[in-house]
Amino acid sequence: MSYFTLANLYDFLLYPFLKKIRKITSQIIIQIEPKTVIDICCGTGNQLNYLKNTNIKLTGIDLSPVMLKAANGIDCFNQDARDIQFSDSSFDLALIQLALHEKSQDDQEKIINEIYRILNSQGHLLIVDYEISKITNYFARKVINTIEFIAGKEHYNYFKQFHKNACTNNLIKSSQFKLKKKILIAGKSMAIHIFQKY
Ligand SMILES: C[S@@+](CC[C@H](N)C(=O)[O-])C[C@H]1O[C@@H](n2cnc3c(N)ncnc32)[C@H](O)[C@@H]1O
Repeated sequence: MSYFTLANLYDFLLYPFLKKIRKITSQIIIQIEPKTVIDICCGTGNQLNYLKNTNIKLTGIDLSPVMLKAANGIDCFNQDARDIQFSDSSFDLALIQLALHEKSQDDQEKIINEIYRILNSQGHLLIVDYEISKITNYFARKVINTIEFIAGKEHYNYFKQFHKNACTNNLIKSSQFKLKKKILIAGKSMAIHIFQKY
């Protein structure tokens, strides 16, 4: 099976499950009214597709050329989120969805610092990622845990570490961003954090 087929298969299998999350995320973005949005670790650009019929200038970056190949009709670039090739204050809103949980703490901090740099003053940061706790729906918890386990040892270890570190909650420095809102979704297994840059 070609890598291209694999990326499309990823979309096909995963995105029906993520559809509701994508819709909520795009509604939040539209309400904020940014002129420019960057999706960090955009994968196949599926989330940006939900914003295609707006006037927002959309950009995505991802490290995987295979995932990017499936991103049709959107400006997606092969870039490392730890060293973003855009100048300071380039975007009104940055989104990072389902990506931080699979990274080391060091990489998470590098990415957040880069996002801070490329955002305009008062710019928004949306983090959409897992947040499994006692109040998470039992079925959602089991499914997610299984998916993350299957993804491989390193991936699973980072996923567990992410939860040990209180997920997104302790990751963001209060000197950089203020939390505007947190919304629990998907059986309380995921959180959307809406931050604003000082
Ligand atoms: C689980 S996927 C999520 C993709 C997308 N955000 C979504 O919601 O479907 C994680 C993505 O992060 C990308 N990625 C991993 N490390 C990266 C890095 N350092 N810089 C940019 N992209 C990276 C991977 O290639 C992959 O496409």
